[in-house]
This record gives sequence, C-alpha cells and structure tokens, in this order.
Amino acid sequence: MASIVSVTDLGKTYDGGFTALNSVSLEIEEGEILALLGPNGAGKTTLISTICGITRPTKGHITVGGHDTITDYRAARSLIGLVPQEINLEPFEKVMNTVRFSRGLFGKANDDAYLEQVLRQLSLWDKKDARVMELSGGMKRRVLIAKALSHNPRILFLDEPTAGVDVELRRDMWEIVRGLKADGVTIILTTHYIEEAEAIADRIGVISKGDILLVEDTAALMARMGQKQMVVELHETVTAVPESLSSYTLEVGADQKSLIYTYDTHANRTGITRLMADIQAAGLTLCDVETRQSSLEEIFVGLVKEDAA
Ligand SMILES: Nc1ncnc2c1ncn2[C@@H]1O[C@H](COP(=O)(O)OP(=O)(O)O)[C@@H](O)[C@H]1O
Ligand SMILES: [Mg+2]
Repeated sequence: MASIVSVTDLGKTYDGGFTALNSVSLEIEEGEILALLGPNGAGKTTLISTICGITRPTKGHITVGGHDTITDYRAARSLIGLVPQEINLEPFEKVMNTVRFSRGLFGKANDDAYLEQVLRQLSLWDKKDARVMELSGGMKRRVLIAKALSHNPRILFLDEPTAGVDVELRRDMWEIVRGLKADGVTIILTTHYIEEAEAIADRIGVISKGDILLVEDTAALMARMGQKQMVVELHETVTAVPESLSSYTLEVGADQKSLIYTYDTHANRTGITRLMADIQAAGLTLCDVETRQSSLEEIFVGLVKEDAA
C-alpha cells in the first residue's frame, strides 16, 4: 500500500540536551489507523509534533503526501489535522465560530456546509451555538476533533485521545475514529493502553525511549502476544523433528541438540506434560529444559512496568 507519511532516520534532541527521538523511521499507509503505543515519556508527542512541523527535527526528514515538512511546510501541514493532548479552547467562544476560525487559519474559504457535516458527524450540531465553557469534557474533546477536521485534512493525528476519559467516552471516541476511517481519513493516534491499540488500530507501532521497537499488523501482533517457547535440551543429536512428534509445533535448535516447542500460554492445555512423555517415548533423553517468552512479550511486560513506575 502507498505511504502517505514517510519518516526517515528522524532524531530530536531538545535544547537542554535531552534526546527524545534517536532514529525513527516509519511509513504510514494511506487509509490506515495506526496506533503508537508507548509509556509516558517514550517520545510519542515529540514524534507527532515533528511530523506536524511544530517541533524541528535535529536530523532526518519527513514527507507528508510527498511534501517535505520543512522545505514545503505549508503544503505538508495543510494535509494534517492535529488533536493535541491538552484541551486548549477559548472558553467564551461559540462552537461553530471556534471551528470556522480554525479553518480560516489554514487560509481556506468559508464552507459552512462542510463544517455542518463535521459537527453532525461528531454529534455536535445541536451545540453549534453553545459556548465552549458550557460543554462537558467529552464534548470539548469532540470540539478539538472538529477543529482538527475543519480544513479537510487527509491525515488526522490524535494525541492520547482517551487519556483520563471514562469507558463510555472511550468507546464513543473509537466509533468516531472508525467513522473517519470509513471516510478515507488516515488516522494516527497515540495511547499507552494496549487494549485500546488492539481494539481500533490496523497496525501498532511500539515506541519506547525514543525508538520505534516494531510496527506490525494488529492481528498478527496479538496472535504472537501470548506465545512462549520451551527449549528442551537433549543428550542426543537431532537433525529433524522425529515423525512421532510431528503433531507438536516443534523446531530443531540451531545446535541440533535441542527441540524448541512454541505454545500458547492462554490455551487450556499447553501440552507440555504429554510432550515430555512423547519425547522419551521417541527414544530421546532430556538434559535440561528452559522456557522463554517471545521478545514481544518482554517488550510489553517492560512497557507495563515502566507505566506503573
Ligand atoms: N520541550 C521540551 N524540552 C525538553 N524536553 C522535552 C520537551 N518536550 C518533551 N521533552 C522530553 O522528551 C521526552 C519525550 O516526551 P514526549 O514526546 O512528550 O513523550 P510522550 O508523549 O510519549 O509521553 C520526555 O522525557 C520529555 O520530558
Ligand atoms: Mg505525549
């Protein structure tokens, strides 16, 4: 699929000397929902701000819809809508005016018919004449999204759209995001909830300490999540998995003195006890047994720990 955003070897060191991004490369596909998952301080907001041209990179380059975000800033920025992490609205302004004003900032001609469509989509139309200060927290977040959509962007960035919101509002937010995707908008959102990324993203990028650790299809990533490996070291040398053990997901270890068993920790039965008996029945002798988590599991356990700290 074609990339709409292309990030190459991006680095950001802030003025004080702190390096928030080391070397990030990332391709964002047109029409996808990409979740950037990582703990606080991982560099999510810095990455988004740099793509949006708000923060200047220290190295690397970025294109949005083929436009360089530095040399062709206006063209790149006009394709992007940004919903910031913090609510930053004028309390006395009316909803419709707020959204109209945002559109004007991009130099676009007034288009109330389009803005009506945006407000209706966000269930804000009946609030168009309400002042921002009269709205609930959830409504204010919707206004932020309406502002971000006011200039018909093709790409929408949502920075922690559901941090600190209740479960119901979180689900509303997911519905909104799905609706926007159906309209062809490419969506990038940041989150530190694994469940949220799993629920709405087509792909998940894991970011930690200024690096993207992996970017992968959500379904494939989740399927790998619960997997664990057991290495059975043997006295004998094996070159192939014995025929009698072919019903197990086994591989021969690189040393040819071990069998590696991959199993699902979430399954009712892991099959370990039966495997041990069958290995002995195949005439092999156990030397030692060791289990290891998939590297992905380690990454997630690490993330959760950092989050709790
Ligand atoms: N303007 C800034 N000056 C110096 N350091 C910053 C600035 N903004 C963010 N940082 C630091 O960069 C790191 C990444 O921050 P941020 O991108 O906001 O992470 P996240 O959004 O993943 O929580 C943090 O350690 C943060 O303190
Ligand atoms: Mg942030």
